Amino acid sequence: GGMRPKIYITRKIPETALLKLAENCDVEMWQQESIPVPRDVLEEKVRDADGLYCLLTEAIDSRLLACAPRLRVISNMAVGYNNIDVGEASRRQIMVTNTPGVLTETTADLTFALLMAASRRIVEASDYLRSGQWTTWSPMQLTGQDVYGASLGIIGMGRIGEALARRAKGFNMRVLYHNRSRKEELEGSLGLVYTELDSLLEHSDFVSIMTPLTPETRHLIGERELKRMKPTAILINTARGGIVDEQALYDALLDGTIWGAGLDVFEEEPVSLDHPLLSLPNVVTLPHIGSASIRTRTRMAELAARSLLQGLTGDIPEHIVNK
Ligand code: DGY
Repeated sequence: GGMRPKIYITRKIPETALLKLAENCDVEMWQQESIPVPRDVLEEKVRDADGLYCLLTEAIDSRLLACAPRLRVISNMAVGYNNIDVGEASRRQIMVTNTPGVLTETTADLTFALLMAASRRIVEASDYLRSGQWTTWSPMQLTGQDVYGASLGIIGMGRIGEALARRAKGFNMRVLYHNRSRKEELEGSLGLVYTELDSLLEHSDFVSIMTPLTPETRHLIGERELKRMKPTAILINTARGGIVDEQALYDALLDGTIWGAGLDVFEEEPVSLDHPLLSLPNVVTLPHIGSASIRTRTRMAELAARSLLQGLTGDIPEHIVNK
């Protein structure tokens, strides 16, 4: 009847999540899987929407919110929500929800995979074989950096940072971390060592970025920070591209200021194929797949659906990010 809330979903989502929403709401969904909803379509669709189910590919800015007078809940199918102007949503009394927890272990797995791929030159070595360059075994051919026993600096000790630290302990790594607040219980249980950022950069063989992108963390890693790192160090970013100054990173990788990088995220996504970072052999690049396991993406989709429904029916969703 007329009481059913109207929901707009900005991409094709898994069936189980869609069915949950369709039971209770009038649902409209952008049908393409590999093309994001065009901005003009989105602006049109939010005009009479009570709920919006969106992805990190949509900029939910003040201009869009001004087109959505009825909107009460925005559910982002991601833990990161830098794509949403939460301050403006709050002013308009719109709830914003995200999907923490369900993706923690999967994202930590991918982060460790990227760390290992970059250190042992996995992608480069695979290309070497397939392109016919493997003529013989040779002592220093395709040699990389050791992971076992190395030091790992984790910037941002939230859920995923902690999950990464647990993996690192299995490789006998010395784990340093920097965070807004100290996590003394983790220092005790996992043997983590709290350090200031500069000292973390100086003492780490691997530096992994595990913070959200906020005004405070934008370009947190730039020329000054890269220069503090070891010439043998590897930078891993599975958080958000904007945390790293990509031009400075390119320069540092080109001139040997640091040894390598593993990047799952970029300032602009999809990264353009002529981006300088893609021309370097000492960078492993991935198309933002940190949480991309079948089970985890399904759980994220379902959690985002549940939060949207809870918000629309007057229940308090578990994961609200408004201040
Ligand atoms: C997130 O959740 O923020 C990731 O970037 C996608 O899983």
